[in-house]
Amino acid sequence: MLSIDKVQETDLKELKQLILEEFPYTKPKIEGIMQRFRKQNVFLLKAVKENTLAGFIDFELNGFEGMIIGLSVKKEFRRQGIAGKLIEKALDVLKENNCVEVKLIVKQENLPAIKLYEKTGFSKTKVLDKRIDKAVVQEMSLSLSMQGFAA
Ligand SMILES: CC(C)(COP(=O)(O)OP(=O)(O)OC[C@H]1O[C@@H](n2cnc3c(N)ncnc32)[C@H](O)[C@@H]1OP(=O)(O)O)[C@@H](O)C(=O)NCCC(=O)NCCS
Repeated sequence: MLSIDKVQETDLKELKQLILEEFPYTKPKIEGIMQRFRKQNVFLLKAVKENTLAGFIDFELNGFEGMIIGLSVKKEFRRQGIAGKLIEKALDVLKENNCVEVKLIVKQENLPAIKLYEKTGFSKTKVLDKRIDKAVVQEMSLSLSMQGFAA
């Protein structure tokens, strides 16, 4: 069974490990993660399967704009719909907090992630000037403002 819950302080060490594995260029430190964890506008959710932390999503809300900052699922748990569930839950939380638009930045070479985001309703808005980890990155966005209204 899969459950999506809030990350607890006791999860932060493991979270750091996951971030280090997938996003080493961010040079994660436990103090930095702890600071993020304590911020009012930052949300950290974890996916737990078979008593194991299988993945997480890190997102924030600035005014009416949401931003997905990080998303990762452990290799052995991939292609089971876990990232999709994490995004779904994140969008629920953002909607509850009156978010109207959600943005994210993804490497153009990261086709699994781009496919996942497209499947969830995001579309590419622009290619950014900056590079992350030497890779070209694109911004994707999803409007939440019209969801729930009949056409
Ligand atoms: C991208 C990532 C989060 C996907 O996690 P996941 O739990 O395996 O994704 P899901 O099972 O929810 O996949 C949902 C859909 O995304 C797409 N997708 C996911 N992985 C894919 C892959 N390797 N190749 C192609 N499409 C893929 C598919 O459309 C999939 O639906 P399907 O399985 O019915 O075909 C995971 O591969 C990961 O952690 N990658 C490393 C970190 C990363 O790149 N994070 C995103 C940074 S912006």
